[in-house]
Amino acid sequence: MAGAQRRLRFSASMSSFAGPPPLSTNPLRKLATDLLSERAIDVPFPPGETRPNLRRTQRFALNPLFLLLEAYERYGPVFTLRIFHANSVFMLGPDANHYMAVSHAANFSWREGHMGDLIPFLGDGLLTIDGDFHRRSRRVMLPAFHHERVARAIEVMAPEIERALAGWREGARVDLYAWTRRLAMRIAMRALFGLDPDGAAGRINPAALFEQALSFYSRDYFLQVLRGPRTPYAQMQAARAELDGVLFEEIRRRRATGERGEDILSLLLDATDEDGDHLSEQQIRDEVVTLLFAGHDTTTSTVAFLFHELALHPDVVDRLVAEQETVLGERSPQADELMGGQLKELDMALDETLRMYPPAWIGPRRSIESFEFAGAVVPGGVPVNYCSWASHHLPGVFPDPESFRPERFTPEAKAALPKGAYVPFGGGSRICIGMRFGQLEVKVIAAKILARFRLELAPGYRLSVRQMPTIGPRGGMPVIVRERRRSAGRPLAAAA
Ligand code: HEM
Repeated sequence: MAGAQRRLRFSASMSSFAGPPPLSTNPLRKLATDLLSERAIDVPFPPGETRPNLRRTQRFALNPLFLLLEAYERYGPVFTLRIFHANSVFMLGPDANHYMAVSHAANFSWREGHMGDLIPFLGDGLLTIDGDFHRRSRRVMLPAFHHERVARAIEVMAPEIERALAGWREGARVDLYAWTRRLAMRIAMRALFGLDPDGAAGRINPAALFEQALSFYSRDYFLQVLRGPRTPYAQMQAARAELDGVLFEEIRRRRATGERGEDILSLLLDATDEDGDHLSEQQIRDEVVTLLFAGHDTTTSTVAFLFHELALHPDVVDRLVAEQETVLGERSPQADELMGGQLKELDMALDETLRMYPPAWIGPRRSIESFEFAGAVVPGGVPVNYCSWASHHLPGVFPDPESFRPERFTPEAKAALPKGAYVPFGGGSRICIGMRFGQLEVKVIAAKILARFRLELAPGYRLSVRQMPTIGPRGGMPVIVRERRRSAGRPLAAAA
């Protein structure tokens, strides 16, 4: 309601896009709607396991990959599993990914599927909207993600990474996941929004508020549905309200002063679409929070998984280091070198990491019309998901899928993959808008670490993957820092 009022006030001076109609996110109402709409469906679901089963739901929450791969073996590329209270259809494999993300994307709603669960925090940003409103919003934001603009973000990334590496010493134990998370948040706040991540002295710290609100989505599902004072939901809303205070103040300050910078917030403040319409303050806030959400969790997990695999594959580290020494010597990589494929070994290691561990592992949607896929009829109005994580583990597409083998992604091998086989950034007109930014960020972090250090997994550490809201290492990733020395015994100079 407050959002609607703000939109109206804003519209008095200049016209803004009409946003989507509000969607109830009350879990009990959603539960009732799901049960009623499922009962009204007159087409049978694709084959699968449609009886309620708590163990299946728990397995899905704890280890969805193996559950989905087992179901694929049993039922083929399209099947149904009852998860929590509702039947969900899963479509796996290259054809399924292509069907849902590219050729028939318009028959699937993001907002009405589980992406809509993010609305209480994100509002109506790119991840939770559809149709014309999505198309117009995305068009307004695209210039911020053009090649040259992303390349300039290295000017924020590089010094932030150096700052974060400053405390690393031989033998130090570092939680690589927590370290990267703080770093990625600082980079996102500065490069995307020109915000001071520390907040002015004595004032609110926006990064901490953001993390506080976001932590709601990694709580147990049964805690997430609770409403009322002191519930995780109430805590998330309180953190959100404080964060919004900071964001609206910044939006209004920039509007009033006309201050602009290289960041996306500046672009959103001035952006108009083909009809001359602007984004309202509420819409700008929603896009800012959506980008922070989509951008920092994913890159953080990718860095952690990449160095997990590198710690287990010293031969790959040797190739990466040799490549860096040949291409860069002792200088820092430039954005064009990283974005233009000049560090091929690094590109391949990153591609293979995102095959094994695609952070945004599931594409949850709701079908609009009933359709037929691989001989099965899928009803309209039901949850349907594609899953990059499971699709990237099909042995018929990626032989020996549990092995980390960057050579799967030589340019020739990558080009020969079937359409839809490799989808860590989704696909089609809604492919990840931050793909270039995320890839650049991971590569700058990796290159700067590799130039000076080798990371070993802490003794006794075994990776366990958690899945919400994106996949990441459960409980963090402890590593031991080793300073890399040249054969002459001279420590490598810190890349400046
Ligand atoms: C390694 C890093 C990243 C990975 C693996 C990743 C992955 C993805 C995937 C798979 C999707 C599509 C989801 C679906 O089909 O359901 C997506 C969408 C999106 N991503 Fe990323 N992402 C990354 C980094 C980023 C960054 C850095 C940003 C922002 C700065 C970002 C912003 C977004 C947004 C806004 C969308 C929704 C696009 C739309 O619907 O138009 N992502 N991402």
